[in-house]
Amino acid sequence: MKQIEYIANAHTLRKISSLFKSTYDNVDGLMKLLLETAQDIVGAKNSSLLLWDDKSQALQFFLASGEGGKELAKIGIPPGKGFAGIVADTGEPLVSNDVKGDTRWYREVSEKVSIDVNSLACLPLMGNTGLIGVIQFLDKIDAGSFTDKDMGILTKFARIMAMFLQVSKSKELLSEEFDRLQEKFWNRFSIVGESPAIRKCIAQAEKVAASKASIMLTGESGTGKELFAHLIHDRGLRQTKPFVSISCGALPASILERELFGHEKGAFTGADSRKIGLFEAADSGTLFLDEIGEMPVDMQVKLLRVVQEEAFIRLGGTQTTKVDVRIISATNRDLEKMIKEGTFRQDLYYRINVINIELPPLRDRQEDIPDLVNYFVKKHSMHDGASLKKLGKGLMSHLKGYSWPGNIRQLENAVERAIVLAENDELNIDSFPFESSDAAIEVSVGASLKEASDAFRQSFIANTLKSTGGNRTKAAKILAVQRSYLSRLIKELGIK
Ligand SMILES: Nc1ncnc2c1ncn2[C@@H]1O[C@H](COP(=O)(O)OP(=O)(O)OP(=O)(O)O)[C@@H](O)[C@H]1O
Ligand SMILES: [Mg+2]
Repeated sequence: MKQIEYIANAHTLRKISSLFKSTYDNVDGLMKLLLETAQDIVGAKNSSLLLWDDKSQALQFFLASGEGGKELAKIGIPPGKGFAGIVADTGEPLVSNDVKGDTRWYREVSEKVSIDVNSLACLPLMGNTGLIGVIQFLDKIDAGSFTDKDMGILTKFARIMAMFLQVSKSKELLSEEFDRLQEKFWNRFSIVGESPAIRKCIAQAEKVAASKASIMLTGESGTGKELFAHLIHDRGLRQTKPFVSISCGALPASILERELFGHEKGAFTGADSRKIGLFEAADSGTLFLDEIGEMPVDMQVKLLRVVQEEAFIRLGGTQTTKVDVRIISATNRDLEKMIKEGTFRQDLYYRINVINIELPPLRDRQEDIPDLVNYFVKKHSMHDGASLKKLGKGLMSHLKGYSWPGNIRQLENAVERAIVLAENDELNIDSFPFESSDAAIEVSVGASLKEASDAFRQSFIANTLKSTGGNRTKAAKILAVQRSYLSRLIKELGIK
């Protein structure tokens, strides 16, 4: 179940990332605490922490107690200048108990913040690959000198602080890496479009996200049903819990049952261990039943029972397992017609269709085409590390003039194809040759939506198969469907 692993990974990633960030947030506080503790122990009046900044090639004040802290933040200390600069240069600690008479004192600092200092201890913070920064302690409360004993204690603190800073630096880099990774994952789920038609759907989805109501997503193929299922899960209270998805059309009834409910050891030949099903895997989260219209009728009965009772029995088991699962279903079939024909159960329909969100076809929201095209151009250019393609004159109206029977998926595939085949940095009308390949799909008004959609599927799948030289595994990959489902479609649609 690749899809499940993928989603689970995305969730784990998000959890790790937020845990990581919350720990990282505390590093500044931790540094302050360490510095203040060291200051208290040796009885110093003030202290500061300066960090080496590669960009300005100078030490910059990161923390400074007492007055003038804000002013100090603006001052950079070059290596070799003043006590801090010398310590940065040599990597050795320094003590001066007569600062005023010491030529090493960097007067620019004391003049800017008008501080009067008599004694000072300054220590380097060394990391594995060199200097990280320095810490300074100014004046003793009892007006005494910094002793060897004080320096022994401060050296220990310097070591601890350097260690923490080093870890936090790696964390910062890691955290950026996480952000990039997350962006990659969640990019999949960003919904593009400002048209009233799609905005209405997004508003509906956001409204119902927090409830546990069963949602039915309907709409033609490629209109974004799966994307919306993720949106609903993601905006709801279950967002950190699993999102488990199954395509009901891809599996024969007996396997679908095992997948959904799991089985006990020995439940059937080959069941050599207990396996939990998707209902259990989705406990406290969301179960997305994609292509629910393809579910065999006897499975519909079993599904209804679980939805009603929120409990089930594993195959070959006797014990009832309770589950708390939010159901989101999707279909491009006309379920009400199927009910009339007796191929879909009405009682199940009512249970899983508490709220219906109908996604509009792309031709009904042509104003979104420019945004979508720009989004996909960016997405697929980035993918190849290539430069961003420009859009040629007249291209947008050409794209808006097309009916997009395969909706957003077709638009995305067309943009991707155009980018791959582009000979220069511009996409133009020739990059989208509809007349030649797609004009073959001619369905006159009066045909049912299913007939039109079948005609499109037939031509689209046939073209994809042609492009893979008849290789079904490759074609299934391009179409993002299971190979077995593709084979079934080929048979049903009579593709030669
Ligand atoms: N509003 C949108 N913004 C950006 N991308 C979108 C949008 N809607 C759909 N997509 C993209 O279009 C493709 C098809 O969407 P999705 O798989 O959700 O459609 P679907 O309705 O489930 O299709 P099917 O019925 O064929 O399974 C996906 O790659 C999806 O990310
Ligand atoms: Mg889908």
